[in-house]
Amino acid sequence: MSIQNKINEIKQSFGSDLDTLNIGKIDFQSIYYKFLGRKGLISELYPMLAKVDNSKKPQWGNDINNLKKYIEDTLSKFNPNTNNKKKEHQLIDLSLPELYLNKGSIHPITLIIEEIQNIFKKIGFSSIYGPEVDTDYYNFEALNIPKHHPARDMQDTFYTTDSCLLRTHTSGSQIHFMENTQPPIRILSPGRVYRNEDISVRSYCLFHQIEGLYVDKNVSFSDLKGTLDYFAKEFFGHNTKTRFRPSYFPFTEPSAEMDVYWGLNNESDYRITKGTGWLEILGCGMVDPEVFKSVKIDSKKYRGYAFGLGIERIAMLKYGIDDIRILFDGDVRFMRQFK
Ligand code: PHE
Repeated sequence: MSIQNKINEIKQSFGSDLDTLNIGKIDFQSIYYKFLGRKGLISELYPMLAKVDNSKKPQWGNDINNLKKYIEDTLSKFNPNTNNKKKEHQLIDLSLPELYLNKGSIHPITLIIEEIQNIFKKIGFSSIYGPEVDTDYYNFEALNIPKHHPARDMQDTFYTTDSCLLRTHTSGSQIHFMENTQPPIRILSPGRVYRNEDISVRSYCLFHQIEGLYVDKNVSFSDLKGTLDYFAKEFFGHNTKTRFRPSYFPFTEPSAEMDVYWGLNNESDYRITKGTGWLEILGCGMVDPEVFKSVKIDSKKYRGYAFGLGIERIAMLKYGIDDIRILFDGDVRFMRQFK
């Protein structure tokens, strides 16, 4: 490790210890010995200094002394044995390097949602938000999934009452929006969804989707394919390989799923892609006329497409994450990487 890195590391570590000292979680003694003790972190800098080029020694020596003095001065404020009034006066030295403060970071899921919103904004999609606790009607019935329809089995549901539930997908937002708006419609609807599924490297009981909906005259399946291809290339890069597979959703006809090529380079790639190299990232299709009927849009006049993107899958692809659960752990060592 270079001397510069070591100095930075000490500063960072001191900054975060200081936060804990401020809120009383660490005692003064242990911080003092950690940094200024005979075998403390500062003492580790001197052997490094001995190895640097002679011409650089004065500069690094000076930096180390400044850091040491800074830590001594800052800590003396907390030392129960010194006279605080006098020391506080000495503490003000505006030429000292700034104190490293731990800044927060934006969660990768939020980063991805914002990036996708920006990509679709360029082609005229704006964002709306639907409720996370919704009724059976919006989550299922109006989407052409009546009671006892086998498609309900695909989405194990958390019910809060007989007719209320935690939404299992963002498709209910389509209904909320179309109930109040006549075409042309061009929207995204991001948010959390919930499914009572076994937790594994690939699935979690809570995850995020972005719903897309486009309704106008003369909308075709090739518009849908073109849009999603544009998205994949903008998001993953122009050489990205995608494929469409026919699929089934009660609220779209015809329906498809889109996969992105992830690769099969190591053990965890096999786990994530079930050995195929492909990862499914979205479901899509042409809005079923039954759905238009429930929101009183004339399906003779208008057609539309819809898609539902799985954000966690995309985050895993983009950041090379091989276990979905890490996105929900709140582990700061993971989160810090997204500063
Ligand atoms: N709602 C579907 C799901 O959660 C995805 C989807 C959205 C499919 C829109 C088609 C159209 O799996």
